Amino acid sequence: MATKIIDGKKIAAEIRSEAKDEASELISKGVQPCLVVVLVGEDPASKAYVGSKVKACTETGIKSIKITHAADVSEAALMQEIDRLNADESVHGILVQLPLPKHMDEDAVTERIDPSKDVDGFHPENVGKLSIGIDCLTPCTPTGIPEMIVRSGIEMSGKHAVVIGRSNIVGKPMMSLLVQKGNKANCTVTCCHSGTKDLSYHTQQADILIAAIGVPEFVKANMVKPGATVIDVGINRVEDTSKAKGYKLVGDVDFADVEPVAGAITPVPGGVGPMTVAMLMKNTVKAARMITALS
Ligand code: GUN
Repeated sequence: MATKIIDGKKIAAEIRSEAKDEASELISKGVQPCLVVVLVGEDPASKAYVGSKVKACTETGIKSIKITHAADVSEAALMQEIDRLNADESVHGILVQLPLPKHMDEDAVTERIDPSKDVDGFHPENVGKLSIGIDCLTPCTPTGIPEMIVRSGIEMSGKHAVVIGRSNIVGKPMMSLLVQKGNKANCTVTCCHSGTKDLSYHTQQADILIAAIGVPEFVKANMVKPGATVIDVGINRVEDTSKAKGYKLVGDVDFADVEPVAGAITPVPGGVGPMTVAMLMKNTVKAARMITALS
């Protein structure tokens, strides 16, 4: 059977349309969902991500406020700003774009955000709730992945999912999501990382293989079970002098090599990337609903 190319752009558009309807409903009840995005410094990738988040808000009917700071802003000033946003009842979501400059403690900044406004799902309270299966705000990128799989008509329950990577942003929350009960989960879960021995042995067992390593084109065909669903979370810039920008985007999966073996696969770009922003829109309306106790 031909390999299914999972169209992240199309599924993200569906989810954004749902978020737009949910935002309209809140607006009709007198609540204008509002997301504040904080950008520190000049990292070009971070600037691009923040730009796409703000644009998506406008298209979804969510008010967005972008706050930018020079890279040398003090941690104390950033903390003060978070305190102000936590106290502002018109703000429902607060997102501090990571990574932060080296002089800041990312964990401390993350913990300062009110968990009920933590649309990234990075606060330890939300991490803990996710791990024990209590409804909460969950990280956007991993939360979008079961949506992509299930909306592509692929069953997840009972499958063996193998996650490569153990970051706090993707790998660990991905494991927590996949192991829960429910039709968008209920998987047997393995997590591989830099300490894993015989990585290929594990990846070859995967019905669902999720690559979140940060190494361009790391996953090759001989690491994949024929017919597996392969989800590529990587977004790596590699030099390409034939492009006007001087680089191209590739994933953590060698697409040309793996596509003939996989049953379904996400492309880069146009796979997981657009889903992250779509799930941020969902999380922002969810936060607005929870904070204002509207359902
Ligand atoms: N940097 C890379 N991914 C993310 C994300 O999902 N949220 C934030 N805040 N920063 C990031």
